[in-house]
Amino acid sequence: MTIRHFLTTQDYSRREIDELLDQAAEFKRSPQGRQLAGKAVALLFFNPSMRTRTSFELGAFQLGGHAVVLAPGKDAWPIEFEVGTVMDGDTEEHIAEVAQVLSRYADLIAVRAFPKFQDWAVDREDRVLKAFARYATVPVINMETITHPCQELAHAMALREHLGDLQNKKYVLTWTYHPKPLNTAVANSALLIATKLGMDVTLLCPSPDFVLDERYMAYGEENARQNGGSLQVSHDIEAAYRGADVVYAKSWGALPFFGQWEGEKAIREASKHFIVDEAKMALTNQAVFSHCLPLRRNVKATDAVMDSPACIAIDEAENRLHVQKAVMAALIGQG
Ligand code: CP
Repeated sequence: MTIRHFLTTQDYSRREIDELLDQAAEFKRSPQGRQLAGKAVALLFFNPSMRTRTSFELGAFQLGGHAVVLAPGKDAWPIEFEVGTVMDGDTEEHIAEVAQVLSRYADLIAVRAFPKFQDWAVDREDRVLKAFARYATVPVINMETITHPCQELAHAMALREHLGDLQNKKYVLTWTYHPKPLNTAVANSALLIATKLGMDVTLLCPSPDFVLDERYMAYGEENARQNGGSLQVSHDIEAAYRGADVVYAKSWGALPFFGQWEGEKAIREASKHFIVDEAKMALTNQAVFSHCLPLRRNVKATDAVMDSPACIAIDEAENRLHVQKAVMAALIGQG
């Protein structure tokens, strides 16, 4: 039997995404269920989390299931991902055993594994997540690697709640300053889901260096074609914000400087004015504003924007709970 995982929304049709969002809305109206009764979920975190961990644990609980949280290399053995290697270094067990053993205990495995930030050619292969999917005999869920599909669903749900029909709404994904170069996962994901929902998407960033990986740009263009939307890149803040219905902010590292971040620093430091503020929001069509969180206030967005009625970031964070329950309920029982 071929197992259906939830690794990227690109593996899911528009109709399937809509069905997950409808189920999430149902869970929001009626939070308790038995869809995971007697079932177990293993949550593996190679990186820190607040929202993802809490919402997955509580989501499993609310559906009658149980979640086990593991941090490999901290409270669980460090895992080897190379095939055929002589394991005489720091790793204690191989993913082949880890994924198969966890599959005997748990009915779902969810994984958070950020890039190593050394070589994008390696990180873009998403090998930790793919290795879990290869060796597990139960469904695997992406809790953020080089995309963040659960965040995508929560974002989409919040946009549907606040704007209704999203077709051809003007959507701005704006890069913002952060003192460190961050993962491109949420930006990749924003692009995927906004184009899949048929919006007219502008990727706003300081220079061509900050354009996202060609794989996600190509997916975005394909999604836009299939769903009647569009995708463009802009470096013009005023033009991008003017008339926007949605402003979604995220900071990320420029891929041409991946692992050699000193080369990017001058552009980054010169781009602090990409902060989302009231003046920029005033250019929009009374846009909603959101961010995946965590967010550094007055660096990425001002207090005034975060505390304004336009900000739906808390709704989006709440929706993580509902959409992940929909994903778990949809995948459970395949092992
Ligand atoms: N947005 C998000 O994934 O939050 P955490 O990193 O806190 O899980």
